Amino acid sequence: MLTFRKVSKDAEVITLIRESDRQLEMLGYTEHGQRHARLVAKNARGVLRALDYDERLTELAAIAGYLHDIGNVVNRECHERTSAILARNVLLRLKMDYDEVAQVMAAIGNHHEETGNPVSEISAALILADKADVHRSRVRNPALIRFDIHDRVNYAVRSSSLTVDKEARKIVFKLRVDTSISSVMEYFEIFLSRMMISRRAADFLHCHYSLEINGNKLV
Ligand SMILES: [Fe+2]
Ligand SMILES: [Fe+2]
Repeated sequence: MLTFRKVSKDAEVITLIRESDRQLEMLGYTEHGQRHARLVAKNARGVLRALDYDERLTELAAIAGYLHDIGNVVNRECHERTSAILARNVLLRLKMDYDEVAQVMAAIGNHHEETGNPVSEISAALILADKADVHRSRVRNPALIRFDIHDRVNYAVRSSSLTVDKEARKIVFKLRVDTSISSVMEYFEIFLSRMMISRRAADFLHCHYSLEINGNKLV
């Protein structure tokens, strides 16, 4: 069976991630390279593992996490759909089962907050992991944070973590925000839709989603 390890070493995939990130850099987006892909893979797997899902499902979540943004190589618009189609080609070439390819495609195609919905456990885990990657290391040029709200909010985030409490059925997203750089209000201004899809993803996994900023429970 195809493993995350094998997908992550594939030369075409590595190129697609690198080129997607380069294009998003041109458009002024935050980092979407290997760091983002690997972190989302790790956290998507971690969410399902913490809830005791089948080991193979956790592997598929990691694969979906690693590939979810490769469609940016074509265009940012509809990148979730392009990512799914490109992932299909890669996964079939690497001899993944058709059934698993379909599951990964559905998850990838639904990860974006504007068009997506949690449609499966893999999909829910991918959404939670992707929306939890907010951090100052994603900002490419800190000198410009005054001019861009996304950069400013990301730069203000000193630490972020996603934790799962299986017994309490709780998924907690914790952030430490430097409010001298960006206000909590600014965070909500740009990330409200991400928080809403995260809450629906947690619901799909029969968990309560909660958001803590600087020790205050906000949701
Ligand atoms: Fe995306
Ligand atoms: Fe992403």
